[in-house]
Amino acid sequence: MERIFSGIQPSGEIHIGNYVGAIRNWVRLVDQYECIYCVVDYHAITVEYEVALMQRRILETATILLACGLTPEKCIVFVQSHVPEHTELAWIFNCVTPIGELERMTQFKEKAKQHRQNINMGLLDYPVLQAADILIYKAGYVPVGEDQVQHVELCRDIARKFNARFGLTFPEPQVLLSAAPRILGTDGQAKMSKSMNNTIGLLDPPSVIWEKLRTAVTCPHREKRYDPGHPEHCNIYTMHTAFSKPDQLEYVEKGCRTAAIGCIECKEILSKNMIEELIPIQDRVKAINEKSHYIHEVLTSGADRARAIAQKVMEEVRTKIGVKFRPQE
Ligand code: TRP
Repeated sequence: MERIFSGIQPSGEIHIGNYVGAIRNWVRLVDQYECIYCVVDYHAITVEYEVALMQRRILETATILLACGLTPEKCIVFVQSHVPEHTELAWIFNCVTPIGELERMTQFKEKAKQHRQNINMGLLDYPVLQAADILIYKAGYVPVGEDQVQHVELCRDIARKFNARFGLTFPEPQVLLSAAPRILGTDGQAKMSKSMNNTIGLLDPPSVIWEKLRTAVTCPHREKRYDPGHPEHCNIYTMHTAFSKPDQLEYVEKGCRTAAIGCIECKEILSKNMIEELIPIQDRVKAINEKSHYIHEVLTSGADRARAIAQKVMEEVRTKIGVKFRPQE
């Protein structure tokens, strides 16, 4: 079976954007591929963060992955810092990666703008660690969103450069783009993100979900109830495409265009569907949290399984680059 690797940052609350764009897609892949999914804590420290909260965020992220169906019977789930071979390989990759390539990464430029007072080496090196995450398992496919395509391309470059200098070792991994719609924040403006305060959390209780949807921005053309709308310009409609069945989708689409329904009815249908999908996940999160050692055990054995693969590849890399001692004659 072909191998997949993907990672998610433990950076605060997991929201429906992460769920629709990444996690739900990861779940669909576990039957077709050998899947390795990682909570990338070493990536999360490249920007300012609250030390006292980190532990809880890592555990909460891992718990959500499990609750969404990424269970140890189906795939490997683990925490990046538990397998030090990731950072070890990143160092070697540093030595084949031109700085210029890193400086032109869109995400680096954006984050450098957002965090002017802390443009550290880790922020620049972020894509190299990401390449090491993928290649330490020789993964062939990487399911990510549009915003990570550039990083996976750099990963292919790094694999190519390493192979050219030290001999064929790594595959050139391909992106598996999910067909998922890009959900914006409840402001209808920016991508959903904690820092923008425009998220719907995967663990938000139903009343909070409804309140956030009720007040969310809709199609700008529908100022009054009898103004016809344009679903293609409405973030609520985008969410419908992610959470509603075809017949309801058609109903709200037509209803909006002809002003037969109002935004509130449209949002009520969405809210009901979203809550219906999220409740079972929230229930499983609660059940996992009640078994106090369970998540720790899953992550420990996940790391063991990942490390077994990573250590072998790292041995091969040490041999290829000429640092491994051969037995003395
Ligand atoms: N950079 C990715 C993101 O922000 C997370 C990530 C880290 C990742 N390492 C990875 C994704 C390896 C795919 C493969 O979403």
